[in-house]
Amino acid sequence: MTKQKVFVTRNIPEKGLVLIRDLYEADIWQSEDPPGRNDLLERARGVDGLLSALTETIDATIMDMAPGLKVISNFAVGVDNIDVAAATQRKIPVGNTPGVLTDATADLAFALMFAVARRIVEGEQFVKDGNWKTWNPRLLLGADIVGGTLGIIGFGRIGKAVARRASGFDLHVIYSDPTERPAFGTTQVDLDVLLRESDFISLHVPLTPITRHMINSVTLKMMKPNAVLVNTSRGPVVDPEALYNALKDHRIFGAGLDVTEPEPLPADHPLLSLPNCLVVPHLGSASKETRDNMAILAAKNLIAGLNEERLPNCVNPQVYE
Ligand code: GLV
Repeated sequence: MTKQKVFVTRNIPEKGLVLIRDLYEADIWQSEDPPGRNDLLERARGVDGLLSALTETIDATIMDMAPGLKVISNFAVGVDNIDVAAATQRKIPVGNTPGVLTDATADLAFALMFAVARRIVEGEQFVKDGNWKTWNPRLLLGADIVGGTLGIIGFGRIGKAVARRASGFDLHVIYSDPTERPAFGTTQVDLDVLLRESDFISLHVPLTPITRHMINSVTLKMMKPNAVLVNTSRGPVVDPEALYNALKDHRIFGAGLDVTEPEPLPADHPLLSLPNCLVVPHLGSASKETRDNMAILAAKNLIAGLNEERLPNCVNPQVYE
């Protein structure tokens, strides 16, 4: 029997690859750089399964390169890189990797919050630049975490994991999310209230037409001057120009960004010139164990789809109706 064909668009951890390599004719993209659009079109031609990453846009054109496509398995929890409506229309199930990356992402949100509030990267640069001549009572004064108000925008799995951690720092936690009920001692508030009252604001919404640029010049103006904004969700949730202006004019204290618009952020981007803006390269799920678990889950979604079984984690279960 001929093997089914799959294209794996990035070199994901071996723990996942080992589950699929022998079962299928697997084309695994090896380069450190993601495939370009033409590579993607070419390599997707005639495949039965796609295992994609957030660096690849999987739209109707890609799907139509593979008329027998049985599954798209995304190596991520977010699926904004995939035209899910087009997949649903074609009855193609789309898989993602929720759960396994919740804690790693919540940890990174806290790491960014602390690093910005306590000016850790500025401090490191100060030392490396040879400026540490003496202890100084006024050097690099940051913000206290304990006792502050943390506003969580988007109270899904990761938002809740951030709330759980917050209790250890005596933070008062409020959240804005119309669909989720209070948990872990949090209070549900309207977005306006959250923006006005929070000392720390952490974003945990998916990227949708509604959340695109939800942090903009208007919403930034509502924030406190001491506010620290943390984004570990998707870059385009924040309008980068509005953020640049707010940080430059010290209308908010600082920002910690794991995700940006555009992504990657070019080295000469204005945001990178600001000492109160800390940017890391989309590392939310980047722990060894988490990435291994994501690879296993993505492989399992792929295998289920190719076997025409229900995916363990499917974002468009309507395809089974
Ligand atoms: C990473 O950003 C993910 O969505 O898993």
